[in-house]
Amino acid sequence: MPATIIMGGQWGDEGKGKLTDALAATAHVVVRANGGSNAGHTVTTSDGVFKLHLVPSGVLNPDCTCVIGAGVVIDPIALLKEIDGLRERGVATSNLLISDRAHVVLPYHPALDRAEESERGDDGIGTTLRGNGPAYADKVARRGIRIADLIDEETLLRKLTREVGSKNETLTRIFGVEPLDATEVYRTLVAAGSRLRDHVTASEMVVQDALDAGKTVLVECAQGAMLDVDYGTYPFVTSSSPTAAGACQGAGIAPTQIDRVVAVYKAYSTRVGGGPFPTELMNETGNTIRERGREYGTSTGRPRRTGWFDAVAGRYVARLNGVTEIALTLLDVLDTFDEINVCTGYRLNELSVRSLPAREDLLGQVSPIFSTLAGWKRDITAAREIDDLPEAAVAYIRFIESKLGAPISLVGVGPSREQLVPVTRDSAMLGAA
Ligand code: IMP
Repeated sequence: MPATIIMGGQWGDEGKGKLTDALAATAHVVVRANGGSNAGHTVTTSDGVFKLHLVPSGVLNPDCTCVIGAGVVIDPIALLKEIDGLRERGVATSNLLISDRAHVVLPYHPALDRAEESERGDDGIGTTLRGNGPAYADKVARRGIRIADLIDEETLLRKLTREVGSKNETLTRIFGVEPLDATEVYRTLVAAGSRLRDHVTASEMVVQDALDAGKTVLVECAQGAMLDVDYGTYPFVTSSSPTAAGACQGAGIAPTQIDRVVAVYKAYSTRVGGGPFPTELMNETGNTIRERGREYGTSTGRPRRTGWFDAVAGRYVARLNGVTEIALTLLDVLDTFDEINVCTGYRLNELSVRSLPAREDLLGQVSPIFSTLAGWKRDITAAREIDDLPEAAVAYIRFIESKLGAPISLVGVGPSREQLVPVTRDSAMLGAA
């Protein structure tokens, strides 16, 4: 039974949590593939709003096995806080499995994240300061501490002693900040490791066994493909690969075992932190989108930057990730506009460009070429099927579909589970960008 990937098509916060929760209703396994507690996935049910950071968004389905894959970096204290919070609200977490190969975010990682951000000054990436970047840096530098090490006291002590010593040198000598107390760090981590131990396993084997047994497996990416460390707006990116390829790697699934790549896009654009954002709206329209879309970070509470839908970036993501279908979320946020713009090209130095320049300064200079579509000026939050949507809203969906070159199969018209409208595919519209 092949697996399905759910990934973000923009700069994160597209509503992947809601979609994963919806698809998890019929899934046996949900695997989180990348990122760490920098992610914030919001799921709204009749029991209220759940903000998930490390725990896969399938956790609200009690029959679903939830796996935190090897590609994730885990802050054990943050994870335990999340588990405790879910348990207090009556959500079972006994089905949560953690890869023994996943890397641990240690207390020196947020300290380094803060120090490095402050050193960048005006060129700051605007990281979530959760230590993700430094944890991934240690992973590829082959000095990381993994979950398998965390739950073995002797290994933890040996590796931690070496690492805290070296990181304290960096923190004090280079950044002039306070060193960490190795003994205290060790004690805290041993306690956390012993609470997490029963969840730890070779999760890639669990996922492979599930696929062999014909079970339904969903792979959930964090962030969005425009924040990908290779193909995103580098250096204003996250430190992992929130892509279809990254999803395979992070979950322990081969590309040949995937048959659906569902990309989630908002009906407009947002990004958090620094970096080029060609369709950004620094005006009243942008504020209206922010307020109507409740565009404030789930993990950090920061106001998100807002802009019109960017079909150039969107198509780039759809192509590089082999997207087979699209969920377009938050369409209702656009209910009040007379006209809606979609960026269908970039102009750079009077020339029209078809792809995203790799150089950050050039991407910062592109100006968007917009196509203007009519708004629908109607509340669509009660729509449950395509026929409930106004003609102009359907035209907007079809326009975006044609620009991205992949079918839109679901449209979000509000935060709750039932506000997902199935949209009939129209293959004649595809590939026309
Ligand atoms: P980091 O992942 O905390 O290192 O942050 C790097 C960049 O990715 C910053 O611009 C963050 O705002 C952005 N980022 C990280 N996680 C998310 C997310 O879940 N949603 C949106 N942006 C994110």
